[in-house]
Amino acid sequence: MASVPSLASTVQQRLADGLSAALPDAASADPLLRRSDRADFQANGILALAKQLKGNPRELATKVVEAIPANDVLKEIEVSGPGFLNITVTDSAIIDTLAARAADARLGVPFNESAGTTVIDYAQPNVAKEMHVGHLRSAVIGAAMVEILEFTGETVVRRHHIGDWGTQFGMLIQFLIEHPHELDHSSEAEVSGEEAMSNLNRLYKASRALFDSDEEFKTRARARVVDLQAGDEETLALWQRFVDESKIYFYSVFDKLDMDIRDGDVVGESGYNDMLTETCRILEESGVAVRSEGALCVFFDDVKGPDGNPTPLIVQKSDGGFGYAATDLSAIRDRVQNLKATSLLYVVDARQSLHFKMVFETARRAGWLNDEVKAVQLAFGTVLGKDGKPFKTREGETVRLVDLLDEAVDRATTVVREKAEKVGLTETEIVENGQYVGIGAVKYADLSTSAARDYKFDLDQMVSLNGDTSVYLQYAYARIKSIFGKAGDRTPVAHAELELAPAERALGLHLDRFAETVTEAAVEYAPHKLTAYLYQLASLYTTFYDQCPVIKPAPAQEVAENRLFLCDLTARTLHQGMALLGIRTPERL
Ligand code: ARG
Repeated sequence: MASVPSLASTVQQRLADGLSAALPDAASADPLLRRSDRADFQANGILALAKQLKGNPRELATKVVEAIPANDVLKEIEVSGPGFLNITVTDSAIIDTLAARAADARLGVPFNESAGTTVIDYAQPNVAKEMHVGHLRSAVIGAAMVEILEFTGETVVRRHHIGDWGTQFGMLIQFLIEHPHELDHSSEAEVSGEEAMSNLNRLYKASRALFDSDEEFKTRARARVVDLQAGDEETLALWQRFVDESKIYFYSVFDKLDMDIRDGDVVGESGYNDMLTETCRILEESGVAVRSEGALCVFFDDVKGPDGNPTPLIVQKSDGGFGYAATDLSAIRDRVQNLKATSLLYVVDARQSLHFKMVFETARRAGWLNDEVKAVQLAFGTVLGKDGKPFKTREGETVRLVDLLDEAVDRATTVVREKAEKVGLTETEIVENGQYVGIGAVKYADLSTSAARDYKFDLDQMVSLNGDTSVYLQYAYARIKSIFGKAGDRTPVAHAELELAPAERALGLHLDRFAETVTEAAVEYAPHKLTAYLYQLASLYTTFYDQCPVIKPAPAQEVAENRLFLCDLTARTLHQGMALLGIRTPERL
């Protein structure tokens, strides 16, 4: 399918043609087209070009305008200021372009011609531990990036690098051996995520207490770590029970989050055990890593501790143990060499940035990363409480993710219920919409500021009907759907011959930007740009809805059809955009 050009790209092309006609020598110059408040677009490129050619920018601009033949896209081009062009497009060009996009199932979003394979490392909780808001961010941002990249034609491999290995398992397994019924289920029925986690929690606390107070248990626990690493079968089988029990819990949370996490994509730290020795050997033999006080280390000129001494990345400890870094380096080898990745994307807390900086640099020195394969940490900030401090309970404990999600759904259900009677929603719809609105609110809050920034977790704000919230967008969508319910035999038809009202023009020009916004969000790993776009779309739609009646008072047939056309394209754009963010748009709300 040929790609459907946006109005912006058509205008850009006309200007570029004018430029090269007026100035054959500058044929490749970029007119630098931007959206503008004063006209529809502004071109700033002539200024720089004139400087370069030592000419008068206003004269040059006038020459370019004169070189553009009369056409039905550009209504007016005005030379302004020191040599900008203010460009107004015709109403018919807006509607014609949108009609072509509406005819495309992808709404004009092009496939990336240089698409490759991206491995996304996201949603990586830790076995036997409660999930917290940090895991929420990784899951939400990562899932949005999966959708956005896949939509633009990238091959995406998902990897959930769960924390399923480490010395703490010695303690847990030893405790289970000594208290064999601690992970038993209360009934034959399928165990709930809630019960699984509470079992694990209890066991974790009890074994930790024993480990800290009983020297002999500590010794037995440490011996158990050695058995685990040596691959002792009985020990491994017990370890597997912890992993399985945790997965029941993880999947129940992901389910609540309306997120599709597949078992085959869960490749935790333990999945790279077989590669660790070789990874170390390669690094040592190539000289990338060196022995220092028995440990295998990689040094960096610009990474120093507070004492001014270099802080190395430790690939293997002096006792022979491998840690987080060895696993991540092995995972890079696997992703590049076996999965054939061209990009590695890590959706991980900004507090791990130094780790990734050192791991990526090490992989570069080893040649695993290079000009063909890049690695990027999509680092996210901390979730703060209303008081602006890292989100904790009053007792100073981390807040359980499940409690937060349940509360979000509760509050959302209240909001939905208040309006339910007017819309005539059934009880089933109220419950379902409560979930879509509540979970949508949590995801939206996470995706509406740039990932790197901290944000305040404020449920009151998140489910508010007015403002930059998902429910505001969801209502906009449902309102459009209800208009179609009242449209009778009038259907959406584009009428390019009509003169547009200002609110119609503004909405139309914004709809034109969808494709470029999705592309930008994909290329820059910036889902918040899509979120901001959708919010503005809903706002412009609200203004349009206030100023341009569709049903009552009934406008002329063509005007009604054209407005329905704008409504329909807005609804499809909202629906597609929200789907890319992992947020549902109920038909009735
Ligand atoms: N499990 C880790 C945590 O909870 C995140 C893992 C991030 N991914 C990675 N490849 N290191 O902090």
